[in-house]
Amino acid sequence: MVCMDTGPTLPEMFDRYKGIVEQELSRCVPAPESSEDVGPYLPVRYHLGWVERDGSPAKSPLSQGKALRPTLCLFACEALEEDPISALPAAVALELIHNFSLLHDDIQDMDAERRHQATVWSIWGVPKALVAGNALHSIGDTALLGTVRNKVAPETVLRVSQILTDSYLEMIQGQCLDLFFETSTSIDGDDYLRMIALKTGALIRSGVQIGTLLATKNQDTYAAFTRFGECLGRAFQIRDDYLGIWGDEAITGKAVGNDIRRRKKSFPIVYAFGEAKGRYREDLISIYSQDELNDQDVERVLDVLEEVSAREQSQLLTDASAEDALVALKPVSLPEWARKEAEDLVDFLSRRQY
Ligand code: IPE
Ligand code: IPE
Ligand code: MG
Ligand code: MG
Repeated sequence: MVCMDTGPTLPEMFDRYKGIVEQELSRCVPAPESSEDVGPYLPVRYHLGWVERDGSPAKSPLSQGKALRPTLCLFACEALEEDPISALPAAVALELIHNFSLLHDDIQDMDAERRHQATVWSIWGVPKALVAGNALHSIGDTALLGTVRNKVAPETVLRVSQILTDSYLEMIQGQCLDLFFETSTSIDGDDYLRMIALKTGALIRSGVQIGTLLATKNQDTYAAFTRFGECLGRAFQIRDDYLGIWGDEAITGKAVGNDIRRRKKSFPIVYAFGEAKGRYREDLISIYSQDELNDQDVERVLDVLEEVSAREQSQLLTDASAEDALVALKPVSLPEWARKEAEDLVDFLSRRQY
């Protein structure tokens, strides 16, 4: 038997919350009324990895996401010694909003594969995928209202709702920048960091913020956890960019090389634009000035990345951002188990293979 090295496994905290997150998710997401139902819920459930495209139970657990954002939300709450159940509706709302963003992202990026299966738009078409994403968005908003059940003060529920809404508006803004950057060759490191803080960082940060807010009113703790979330988001997306070029499709479940083909200004590319010299620089500019890149162009881009050590630099920035995340938590008084789990989490996020 051939054993595949899938890299570091998900830290223990993911296992701890998995059951309650799945249970609350399945409570929130409606089922199709019948096998004739042409509404959004079959593609929504397929996207969530619960069913096959014909509605039969999913055959592989690989088509489900990692549930990073709800895990972060519940962890922040529990680390601050509050019952994580009070953050469960918000945690699940975040996972639903994240899935809405992915469903639409696959249309925007024209990606035909995610989580080891065909994307919704590639099966049901773009119009249907759009409405399935919209449905997920609304289910997410509604799921958040469940926070009221947990005897959280109405003002706090409103504040949580505002944090979530603001963050997905940031995510949408970031998606627009990401798309706009495809056709630009003058994106620098600061532009890139601003874009990823919006498209990916905002939802990760808001998960941490909401978990914190539901546990404490201490402003310093909130600021420290906010910074923790921002740094994690940065580390996470830079590693995602790395995996989009040097990852193993059999492990990531997404096509490798598409970011280059789509002229995405992912970190390695932005770094190469800043560092490449002479012939390497000329080739990079000429390749990225075209509307379409062929396999030979992709190969040449990979050469340029190698020449400027973009792979090593990407990992260095991931590691530095991950370290910043831990530094941010230093002033907060945390139980020993929570600090250890934060370290395990950061370690996983910076070395993950999927
Ligand atoms: C992928 O996020 C999209 C990005 C924001 C980079 P995840 O890697 O958290 O996606 P799933 O939910 O685990 O598939
Ligand atoms: C995903 O960014 C960010 C959002 C969905 C908001 P990417 O487009 O880089 O992520 P993947 O690689 O498709 O998961
Ligand atoms: Mg994408
Ligand atoms: Mg994208």
